Amino acid sequence: MIKDTILILDFGGQYCHLISRRIREQGVYTEILPCDVSLEEINALTKTDDIKGIIFSGGPSSVLSEAAPQCDLHVFNLKVPILGLCYGHQLLAQHFGGRVEHSKKKEYGPTKVTIDKPVGVLKDLDKTESVWMSHSDTVYDLPEGFEILAHTDNSPVAAFRDHDNSIHGLQWHPEVSHTEKGDLTLTNFIFSVCGCEANWNIGAFEKKAIDEIKQQIGDGKCILALSGGVDSSTTVILASKAVGKNLTSVFVDHGFMRLDEPEFIEKTFSGFDMNLSILNEKERFLEKLKGVSDPERKRKIIGTEFIRVFERAAKKIGAEYLIQGTIYPDRIESGFRRKSEKIKTHHNVGGLPSKIDFKGIVEPLRELYKDEVRKIAKLLGLPKEIVQRQPFPGPGLAVRIIGEVTQKKLDIIKKADKIVTDEIDKLKIKENLWQYFPVLTGTKSTGVKGDKRTYGYTIAIRAIESKDGMTANFAHIPYAVLERISTKITNEIPEVTRVVYDITNKPPATIEWE
Ligand code: XMP
Repeated sequence: MIKDTILILDFGGQYCHLISRRIREQGVYTEILPCDVSLEEINALTKTDDIKGIIFSGGPSSVLSEAAPQCDLHVFNLKVPILGLCYGHQLLAQHFGGRVEHSKKKEYGPTKVTIDKPVGVLKDLDKTESVWMSHSDTVYDLPEGFEILAHTDNSPVAAFRDHDNSIHGLQWHPEVSHTEKGDLTLTNFIFSVCGCEANWNIGAFEKKAIDEIKQQIGDGKCILALSGGVDSSTTVILASKAVGKNLTSVFVDHGFMRLDEPEFIEKTFSGFDMNLSILNEKERFLEKLKGVSDPERKRKIIGTEFIRVFERAAKKIGAEYLIQGTIYPDRIESGFRRKSEKIKTHHNVGGLPSKIDFKGIVEPLRELYKDEVRKIAKLLGLPKEIVQRQPFPGPGLAVRIIGEVTQKKLDIIKKADKIVTDEIDKLKIKENLWQYFPVLTGTKSTGVKGDKRTYGYTIAIRAIESKDGMTANFAHIPYAVLERISTKITNEIPEVTRVVYDITNKPPATIEWE
């Protein structure tokens, strides 16, 4: 079925995903594309998407600078309504011949705006509204045929539209929760201005995804790397329903998993209509990491080894298709935001080998955000432990052991991980946490146990709050909980003499220590 779609052109704004989320919450599908996306690329989308409107996002640049990001002018020929937000607002005003200048007075944060005409995207707004602003250029004059819909003390044109209600600009950010009627403004745009129907429905997703997998794979054999995370687990269930025994799900046990993970995978997935292959490769991985303490080398060795093991498994079964649990943000991040500096090499079962020759790669979750995947996982009846699972890095506990990985250190970190997880899982605070785990630091320190001097490992506890893992704050875990965790760890793991709490945000630290 062709779905109504709003395109969001990304001008580098930090809120692109928020705009997208707000619209999807109202049942309308969105696609985020780079601002200079070509007309051909947009046309390619129209096989599955009926493009009903376009949003130009905000961005850090100035439309007055020479390097100001622009869109392909053909976008205006699509003849669909356009809404510009912040930078997008200024770009539209400038494009049609209005006057944009550096602001005489900048506006940041909550701002009172006067709604001069509650029409178009501002339908049903009150005379005065509270909105979120963040800009240093301002639209001072509009071109012929455009009208001012709102102003503030410092922005004479805080909102505008053209004569046929098709082009709108807002100096503020309706996608941010601090803008009180932000949702209503976006609703006005997608339903009243663009005429969208709310036909993006998570409940209907299951059937659509299964049909698509069947269609793409036919009678072919396919393979899937199962990590036990919510994305790959959800993909396994959909694929098993679509192709049954033609699917082989492979769980590579590299030995850096949480305690009893392979057993958990076996128990959870063995009842499904598919082949499940659990490969015990612990010795191979440990051997490869012998003497290696550099974090990037560790990551690369694990990633490469993983691919080798997977390649062999694919060859063995004659797999023609690779099914992956890639989700929407993975695609966006690797698709066009390539300019950011590499901080660390992520190894992800969702990013498997391009080197193996597959007839096709199938990504059933490619349109979904993480919380949408969790909803599907729940609908598919996956256990709560998987639906709500915290993210776990591909290289596993190997990057939570600072320095060389040994069997002895793995045994310590697995026990500590179980203590931290069990203690925090019992508490309500868990719902606000993105991740919580221990790290076996490379530091040893002196302790005293049973009146005897000890010299043992230092464990650091990391617990963080985050929306997407890109930035994070350390969580304010109650001291009583930290104390309980510390006591349990030092009591139950003889090799550990000290437990510390990591109070660093990201940035400047990363979430994982290596
Ligand atoms: P960092 O440490 O880069 O982590 O701040 C951000 C988020 O990504 C997870 N992470 C990984 N996930 N493969 C993954 O699939 C990896 O190699 C990897 N390294 C880190 C990390 O747990 C956090 O949620």
